[in-house]
Amino acid sequence: MLYYIPPTLFYTAELCYNSSMNFWDKLPHPFTVLAPMEGVTDIVFRHIIETAGRPNVFFTEFTNVSSYASEKGRQNALERLDIFENEHPIVAQIWGKEPEHFKKTATALEGLGFDGLDINMGCPDKHVNKAGGGAAMINTPELAIDCIKSAKENTSLPVSVKTRLGYSKISEYENWLTLLLQQDLAALTVHLRTKKEMSKVPAHFELIDSIIALRDKIAPQTKLIINGDIENLEQITDLHAAHPGVDGFMIGRGVFKNPFCFKPQDSKSTPSEQTSHIPSQKELLRLLALHLNLFDARRAELENRGSKYSYEPLKHFYKIYVNNFDGAKELRIKLMDCKTTDEARKIIAPLIK
Ligand SMILES: Cc1cc2nc3c(=O)[nH]c(=O)nc-3n(C[C@H](O)[C@H](O)[C@H](O)COP(=O)(O)O)c2cc1C
Repeated sequence: MLYYIPPTLFYTAELCYNSSMNFWDKLPHPFTVLAPMEGVTDIVFRHIIETAGRPNVFFTEFTNVSSYASEKGRQNALERLDIFENEHPIVAQIWGKEPEHFKKTATALEGLGFDGLDINMGCPDKHVNKAGGGAAMINTPELAIDCIKSAKENTSLPVSVKTRLGYSKISEYENWLTLLLQQDLAALTVHLRTKKEMSKVPAHFELIDSIIALRDKIAPQTKLIINGDIENLEQITDLHAAHPGVDGFMIGRGVFKNPFCFKPQDSKSTPSEQTSHIPSQKELLRLLALHLNLFDARRAELENRGSKYSYEPLKHFYKIYVNNFDGAKELRIKLMDCKTTDEARKIIAPLIK
């Protein structure tokens, strides 16, 4: 059987209501988070992960506050902020460098159904950094504080920050994280690398205990989320045993290796012995079938609003579902040649019956 698709697939942000103002305090310990990933974790892919096995918290891709603040960019910003009802708690991630634009966006987000607001202070993308946002904020700490204050003063949503250890040197983490923790954040996500390191070196797990100590000293009320090279529940189980002070673990690229990574293999197992579900070939291809259907529904919806949702980027997702089984390579080549979702659907139909 294919996954059930409800008649109303997507709920525009305006239609949702805010269900839990201080959700961070109601999460299990430890909790899991799907990382924000631009071009990946849009509403369609979050729906896929929610179906495969959800994390405790979802984050959106990041939205530029200056886009939201401008008339020209607002529609696009709002489309990025569409959410659906089953993904609560969900945090809207935003980036920028203008406190005034943070103010406008923070005010608006409260009415868009989100449970939290996160500020990106770690993105290494050169366009984002040139615009003064993402990891560039590490080098403009006073501006970073102004942006956090501006967001906090203009929303009752809990405000969090996602960042890296520093801009160029690992040793920056003490001053930078101290400064952030002094802002009384609801949560702080630390990607255990510097901006300069991009994702080219292993995450610095050796710093976790020092970061916990900083958090405990400066802001014990702030939830600490660790990110970088974490791929599955077994790894989270081990990290939690070694560092019980960490509140949450965030998985990003791990979902490419296994979109079922948040789903426990055995739902009866205790948290200390959880492993991620390893899907069968059929489960993966059924998830791909769902992705094709959700893609079509989203495209129709956006076209109705006068926007586009292109087919080509969808192809990047095929390798998530068509991997690690006999004949996967040949099937993937066939799918990559498809020009429409209908062509792709025909190819996988006999394999998912
Ligand atoms: C394709 C892609 C897009 C990303 N977009 C964002 C983003 O919009 N906001 C953000 O905070 N981090 C973004 N990241 C970084 C991830 O959230 C995460 O910090 C990073 O991938 C390290 O975690 P991982 O090893 O679990 O993947 C992105 C990463 C990737 C691979």
